[in-house]
Amino acid sequence: MTRDQKNTNQKNKTRLDRLTAIVLAAGKGTRMKSPLPKVLHPVAGSPMITHMVQMLKSVEFSEIRTVVGAGKDLVEKVIIPQGVVTFEQKEQKGTAHAVQAAQVDSLEGEVVILNGDHPLISAEELKRAIDCFRDLDADLAVLTCVLKNPKEFGRIVRHNGELRAIVEVKDASAETLKIREINTGAYIVRADILKTYLPQITPHNQQNEYYLTDLVGLCVENKKKVEGIQVSRAFAFGVNDQIQLSQATDYIVRQKIKSLMQDGVIFIQPSTTYVEPAVQIGAGSVIYPQNFILGNTKIGAFSVVEPNCFIQDSEIRSGVQIKFGTHLEKVIVKEKAQVGPYARLRPDTEIGEDAKVGNFVEMKKVKFGKESKASHLTYLGDAVIGEDVNIGCGTITCNYAVDKKKYQTVIEDGVFVGSDSQFVAPVRVGKNAIIGSGSTITKDVPAESLAVARGQQRNIEGYSKRIKK
Ligand code: UD1
Ligand code: CA
Repeated sequence: MTRDQKNTNQKNKTRLDRLTAIVLAAGKGTRMKSPLPKVLHPVAGSPMITHMVQMLKSVEFSEIRTVVGAGKDLVEKVIIPQGVVTFEQKEQKGTAHAVQAAQVDSLEGEVVILNGDHPLISAEELKRAIDCFRDLDADLAVLTCVLKNPKEFGRIVRHNGELRAIVEVKDASAETLKIREINTGAYIVRADILKTYLPQITPHNQQNEYYLTDLVGLCVENKKKVEGIQVSRAFAFGVNDQIQLSQATDYIVRQKIKSLMQDGVIFIQPSTTYVEPAVQIGAGSVIYPQNFILGNTKIGAFSVVEPNCFIQDSEIRSGVQIKFGTHLEKVIVKEKAQVGPYARLRPDTEIGEDAKVGNFVEMKKVKFGKESKASHLTYLGDAVIGEDVNIGCGTITCNYAVDKKKYQTVIEDGVFVGSDSQFVAPVRVGKNAIIGSGSTITKDVPAESLAVARGQQRNIEGYSKRIKK
């Protein structure tokens, strides 16, 4: 390490002492035309603001301050549990007014200011921008981006290459509107600079708002070091309406699928497949088109998910086959099991290794043992099914009683349940017992026995001929 590098590192280290993020999220988001506060709209399955908070948490900020206003209570419910400090901006009088609400006087070190509606910002890119700010030894940096079609973004006005001002579209001349370098709405600034110049911003513009963008002009006037740091289009991408919201989701999902494919997962048609960011899938697994894989789902290696399945917060182990049109929520499917087509497994269900769950089978809160089968048309709820059990077609556990309570059915290892049987819970069937088809089982069945509980068959000869006369 050269002495210069050492010096910079030391300086960086002292500056690193306090790094605060301020996220502006008080705006109404009028253009969303939705009753939900803008920053709570979901992007790839979680609120826009959650994406930002989680990203910021991996950048080692000393503190994350969020300015809330519109929909304050709801927004706080989501972000306070994530360790964010909130500040209320009672009236939305503009971005500079919003930053002021975050008790700027108590800040030290460096401050990163971000809009709460930019869910595609990556931690890596933000870290790079912070490093760049330090290397440039700037007082204020505006994170900018050059766009083909800059639309509603504030324009970066430079003079001899030096950043001079940000002009909002509403206040811009035709000439200024031609500028393609834009303000992403993100800034890195030294706390002392912010404390000095933020209070000097006045609402002199067309909207009568306090613009944070005026900080640039003030710093330039006072000969402070103002720099523009270029970032990606994803960083610049802000969500202002429902179309942009869906584009943000699409971007995240496409990135996710791409990275899974890079790790060896086979997607037959990525463009029609939806996979949320936290999902894990092992190499060699095949995901057919039209699948929705959500939340904290984990899929092992060499598993197959046929088309049209919905899988949420589930653990699918290796070598599993999930067949067409299956709906899984909070379940575990162990190695080499087969589920579907058209199966529905509800929360707290666990399917054992090599087990088979066939078409039109619904389960809820069931532990279904290794190598057991329920191949057709069955409802099992609140049940423990042992290993190597055969559940015949049309079997039903009657788990819900008139007292509105749920009761359990236990079927031990090796039991054979004939078709069209009902188990009126609570009831237990012992090992290797056989249930005759069409039985309604209301009492426990001892191990190794046969239980038949149905009306006796009576054949009345000649009856048909008699009544037809
Ligand atoms: C702002 C910038 C613009 C930039 C763009 C990038 C200003 C004046 N303009 O414009 O240069 O190109 O971001 O997306 O800063 N907010 C509050 N309180 C307020 C007003 C806004 O908390 O009183 C929050 C909003 O919730 C939002 C963010 O600040 O998260 C930006 O506000 P918005 O109205 O979307 O600003 P833009 O018009 O996009
Ligand atoms: Ca915006």
